[in-house]
Amino acid sequence: MTSDVLIMGGGVISMAIAIELKLRGAKVIVVSRDFDAAATHAAAGMLAPGAEIISDETMQELCKRSSYLYPDWISKLEEFTSISTGYWSCGVLTPVLWKDERDKGAISPSSPLPAYWLEKEAIHQYQPGLGEEVVGGWWYPEDAQVDNRALAQVLLTAAKSLNVELKEGIAVEGIQQQQRQVVGVQTSAGILRAEHYVLAAGAWSNALFPLPVRPIKGQMLSVRVPEFVPDLPLRRVLFGEEIYIVPRRDGRIIVGATIENVGFTPHNTPAGIQTLLQRAIRLFPQIQNYPIQELWWGFRPATPDELPILGTSSCENLTFATGHYRNGILLAPVTAALLADLILEQKTDPLLSHFHYSRFHTKSSTNSMLTYPTLKTQKSELSTLEDSPLQIAGKTFQSRLMTGTGKYRSIEEMQQSVVKSGCQIVTVAVRRVQTNAPGHEGLAEALDWTKIWMLPNTAGCKTTEEAIRVARLGREMAKLLGQEDNNFVKLEVIPNPKYLLPDPIGTLQAAEQLVKEGFAVLPYINSDPMLAKHLEEVGCATVMPLASPIGSGQGLKTAANIQIIIENAKVPVVVDAGIGAPSEAAQAMEMGADALLINSAIALAQNPPAMAHAMNLATVAGRLAYLAGRMPIKTYAIASSPLTGTVTS
Ligand code: GLY
Repeated sequence: MTSDVLIMGGGVISMAIAIELKLRGAKVIVVSRDFDAAATHAAAGMLAPGAEIISDETMQELCKRSSYLYPDWISKLEEFTSISTGYWSCGVLTPVLWKDERDKGAISPSSPLPAYWLEKEAIHQYQPGLGEEVVGGWWYPEDAQVDNRALAQVLLTAAKSLNVELKEGIAVEGIQQQQRQVVGVQTSAGILRAEHYVLAAGAWSNALFPLPVRPIKGQMLSVRVPEFVPDLPLRRVLFGEEIYIVPRRDGRIIVGATIENVGFTPHNTPAGIQTLLQRAIRLFPQIQNYPIQELWWGFRPATPDELPILGTSSCENLTFATGHYRNGILLAPVTAALLADLILEQKTDPLLSHFHYSRFHTKSSTNSMLTYPTLKTQKSELSTLEDSPLQIAGKTFQSRLMTGTGKYRSIEEMQQSVVKSGCQIVTVAVRRVQTNAPGHEGLAEALDWTKIWMLPNTAGCKTTEEAIRVARLGREMAKLLGQEDNNFVKLEVIPNPKYLLPDPIGTLQAAEQLVKEGFAVLPYINSDPMLAKHLEEVGCATVMPLASPIGSGQGLKTAANIQIIIENAKVPVVVDAGIGAPSEAAQAMEMGADALLINSAIALAQNPPAMAHAMNLATVAGRLAYLAGRMPIKTYAIASSPLTGTVTS
């Protein structure tokens, strides 16, 4: 028998939704590889919408609502299970350490909950034992904490007693979609089906769906108040600059957390623990003598704007609840309530629109200043214009020019050209790396992959199956280069080596499968507006129409079709293949292309680095011209100096 709702993920968000849905009468199944791997287990359990200093107003509102829901939610769960969650309305103090910070700090922070400034004397009186450097601080009396591990246990117990079906030890491997419906999830234990699906897999969400959620590691540790200390020395959370100290009523004190963009790299490190200890001792010196109890780490699910992704998806029966970053424990009750309303009653709270995934897929979701390489003689007022950076599958790129690594005469020329092009994305043919083809040896060392985003491509693949297999290898290749969260693939399915024209049907089929496997797919296509639309509909992150045959340098032969694709696309349009000269690059950008991919025209130029620089300037110039808006074309000449208003004798 199938369930009403299948939830992917084993953290607090997934369990809170499961319980809420079950209490409202749904039949629910939760699939998780390992409940303890979730960020829930690693967290400190602070419920601190005030002290976290959240600048986004709608997020403040969401946090406030959740913190108001907390006491009743906890009572209900504790009553149900007769287990304590360690919920404690202990408040949070945010001490500041220096006079100038103090002066800055004394300006009321934008907090959704009340905050009170405490002068030096007051704060030391209120919380004895603070470091001597503490010169004042804010007091957030309505912030609280919960013992997150106890909460996880309570949620599991409650779910079991409510007959939520919990499938632990099962990995979800893919989400099967057909015509914008999820028809099942592929798991390590076979296919599971339900009427509705919820993706709540936290930092791992992007392995299942192309959402811009990436892991941000946090290292943590705990100490224990020694038995000879008669009372708890700390009775409220201390939240300083990149450090928090959370006392539990049972004598544990949690210290967290680092903020590290290192993918899913496991383990505690000496540097991480040293940083935590130094900061913690400065804030509350006596813990330096307390015994260390445990060290651990976890992965927060972060989105580019640090806000969660909540609500509907591109599939009618799939809902997102992920990307809660630093506030998953806090946001569990409100997420569960809003999503249960949405899934069971089709009620959409107005707040949800702010957290919709589509904010990352529109072409212009965040404004930034367009900066371009100005010539020295240009005046600065010409050098900036409002623009949005290029966004692909939620990742932001300042450069709109992508390049490749093939066809260069030497690796040095390739390296210099990549630098001169100013590009941030370099495409690499997975098969050529595998076979160590000329120009593809030593690629790992040849480029700085901490700055360049790799776009693995499936060049050389003749069939759908081959391209899918090579795309998977590409993902592994990116991981080996340290790009753990890189799920991009430039999809090329090209059966005929003479004309090198992409196979539209094979490309669409491969794209559909790769999207299901969580890839951000950038398909290389002929300039076919209908195909572009279909690819967008199956969830591709961009479309990449060719300007003219690959490597031909014939320029913009398909301009009319590219124009139609640009007019209709809701995903970025990257003009790929055939651009031979900077004038053509500029022309494609003037038409409104979002980006260009240029390889041969640079690699085969007499001076590739100089040509790379020229292409960089042309891309920027074309973009600027597009934004500036060109003059209309007139049939006849119109004098530059108008005659109207001139003095005639
Ligand atoms: N909520 C605190 C953290 O993520 O470190």
